[in-house]
Amino acid sequence: MPAPATLPGADESAREGAIRSLPFTAPALLAPMEGVTEPCFRGLVLARNPPEAIGGAFTEFARVSDHPLSVRFLERHLGPPRPTVGLQLMGPDSDAVAETARRAEAIGAPLIDLNFGCPAKGALRSCAGSGLLDHPERIEALVSACVAAVRRVPVTGKVRAGGENDTRLEEIALAVEAGGAALLTVHCRTRSEGYRDCADWSRLRRAVDAVSIPVCGNGGVETHDDLERLRRETGCTFAMVGRAALADPWIFSGRRVDRAEAARFFADYADALRVVERATEQKIAGRVKQLLRAWRAGGLFDDDRESWLAERDPRRFAERIEALQGDAGRRSTSPPARRTAG
Ligand SMILES: Cc1cc2nc3c(=O)[nH]c(=O)nc-3n(C[C@H](O)[C@H](O)[C@H](O)COP(=O)(O)O)c2cc1C
Repeated sequence: MPAPATLPGADESAREGAIRSLPFTAPALLAPMEGVTEPCFRGLVLARNPPEAIGGAFTEFARVSDHPLSVRFLERHLGPPRPTVGLQLMGPDSDAVAETARRAEAIGAPLIDLNFGCPAKGALRSCAGSGLLDHPERIEALVSACVAAVRRVPVTGKVRAGGENDTRLEEIALAVEAGGAALLTVHCRTRSEGYRDCADWSRLRRAVDAVSIPVCGNGGVETHDDLERLRRETGCTFAMVGRAALADPWIFSGRRVDRAEAARFFADYADALRVVERATEQKIAGRVKQLLRAWRAGGLFDDDRESWLAERDPRRFAERIEALQGDAGRRSTSPPARRTAG
């Protein structure tokens, strides 16, 4: 990984030690996004950006109730293990989450990330995800149980700036550090702010000042330049991008792609879902439409997004995706352009 930006704070060497324990190859990371960053999408984003532009990614959260998740489930969730893709867990029960973390390490996950940010009602009801932001002592206990359960891989924690407000931000950040995490990711919005436009990066600076471990700042990155600006303005070692990567998966490298290259991404995505996930054409159309709603790269759907979203016939949808490539030539990257029945 390139040398981090100048870091504030006294405990520089501890922070650098923690950075070295992380598997990332660069400071820009792809955020976990449920229903979106499954192995196929993740794999394409990682393939489209060089490792010096995208440092790594995470699985979406795997929900752990009061029983550890099975190895079979974890293998499906992780996909083929990749050295820079951490597996994210979310749950209220330290023992169950810690045992799941141990199993995840055993199947090759290079990092375990714990989710303390999900605002979904289900998470709040079971006091998982952002429900734990009101209980920093339980955050610490969960992190430390996982750190004790795994042998070699780092454990990291992803929080929001707070629950109802940001007054406990430092306490939350310190709880993640005290549990033994190697990295703290802070989504700068509070639970009650949801995903609204307000992205107050001064909260990221507060987290950086509070802890000695490296901090990854998240929330409101819109452009390639924002990735560096976030790190410069807040002192964060890493910057994480969520929704803007759905509009432009090349945001990490900053490369501007043309329509043909953007079209190839969609054809490759549909193929990957067919081959790797054995998804039905119906499911593929659903996934592709979800991406298409946010998409901006290459101006691909700027003129006819509505007609794509209105397409009801999954076979016809697949033909349109195929035809999109036009004369752009053969697909350039994995997965292989093999067709299987849906
Ligand atoms: C559809 C969607 C699904 C998400 N799923 C997860 C998840 O599984 N785990 C997680 O930690 N955060 C999840 N998030 C939050 C993002 O990782 C990120 O923190 C948030 O989108 C803010 O970043 P952004 O402003 O760059 O989008 C999700 C966000 C969205 C929009």
